Amino acid sequence: MTSAVRLDSSAQQTMSTDLPPSLLDAKSVDLSHGNTMALACVADSVVTLTDEAQLDSFMASYANNPEHQPSLFVLSGGSNVLLPAQLEATVLQPQMRGITMTAQTERYVDIEVMAGENWHDFVVYSVEQGWYGLENLALIPGLTGAAPVQNIGAYGVQLEDCLQYVRAYHLPTQTWHRLSLTDCQFGYRDSVFKRTPNTWLISRVGFRLHTDASKILASYGDVQTVAQRYAEQKNRLQPTPADVMQAIIDIRQQKLPDPKQLPNCGSFFQNPIISQAQFATLQQTYPTIVGYPIPDATVKVAAGWLIEQAGLKGGGIVPIVTHQQQALVLTNHSPYQATQDDVATAQYYIAAHVYEKFAIQLSREPVWINADGSIGYDEHVV
Ligand code: EPU
Repeated sequence: MTSAVRLDSSAQQTMSTDLPPSLLDAKSVDLSHGNTMALACVADSVVTLTDEAQLDSFMASYANNPEHQPSLFVLSGGSNVLLPAQLEATVLQPQMRGITMTAQTERYVDIEVMAGENWHDFVVYSVEQGWYGLENLALIPGLTGAAPVQNIGAYGVQLEDCLQYVRAYHLPTQTWHRLSLTDCQFGYRDSVFKRTPNTWLISRVGFRLHTDASKILASYGDVQTVAQRYAEQKNRLQPTPADVMQAIIDIRQQKLPDPKQLPNCGSFFQNPIISQAQFATLQQTYPTIVGYPIPDATVKVAAGWLIEQAGLKGGGIVPIVTHQQQALVLTNHSPYQATQDDVATAQYYIAAHVYEKFAIQLSREPVWINADGSIGYDEHVV
């Protein structure tokens, strides 16, 4: 577990000024509507950032106030966090908007998107413009600035496939950086931003998108079938990127609950990675077990399958239960009242049952936020 961000002493300046009142938006702010799991949460204070200069200004004041330096916590769309009932921190909310084309050739366009743009709206906009590559990532909740943190992925595509760079502010040293694809250190649902929490505030994301529609492959079984059906309805031989996007939207809407109707934070458990030997042994007892071999001689097992086979599809500890159509998603049936503790109770219950049956440990995917704004990652839940 890491502690919440503190400035390097070298970054602190001697001049002392108070925080600009215009930037310190509000105190004791209810964030139960600011997280898609709709957990009850009250934060000490919230700072809304609508341009990058506001962050410079806020951080200069912050550094000049060594007597008063609350923990800082960056909250984007709140779609992948489990917030505590009391968040004793100053919450920074990046809400800068804008989509800019920075380069164009016959084959591709370079697009820069500000962190506060809604991710799904940007995906739809890009396809409408004839910019392709992000179709498979349609309908993922949240804002663009949070997308690199866990290298969002769906239907065979990950953010890193189209990402070129990230512009981000390094909170401990108060400096702006442009991080290349390599700098971002992407992995499966992982990045440098996730590994060094409360360190970076992402303000812009740069993408290179194709303008050649024929490059788009809907290789995932379901997606291919549904997209082909759309194409045929419009008398086309091949699905267009818009057909693929519509197929993804349909499939996700069928399987995944809309957080606005039934609060959730997407996949709750990661798909665990086990050895080939353990997978082979499990296959003998459970021939239908779903697993995807990974090049390093391990197997990624479908956590949704494990949970369903443990008899917990639709189960959990009320009010936090798994979704009827996708056991990997935990839903909150008591919006704005259920707390982080309720989630932990359900999580331990589900993970313990899966462990008992398969001897596989499930790790949570959303980020657990401690009361001081620090982050508890990678805890095995059994
Ligand atoms: N399965 C079950 N029962 C369930 C759920 C799934 O048996 O209740 C089986 C399915 O039949 C399938 C396998 O598990 O054979 C995998 O299911 P699916 O294709 O739905 O994908 P997933 O592994 O459950 C991952 C991502 C999703 C992403 C989908 C599609 C993770 C942790 N989750 O889910 O991401 O949309 O693939 O690519 O990698 C998210 O992060 O919020 C998210 C939804």
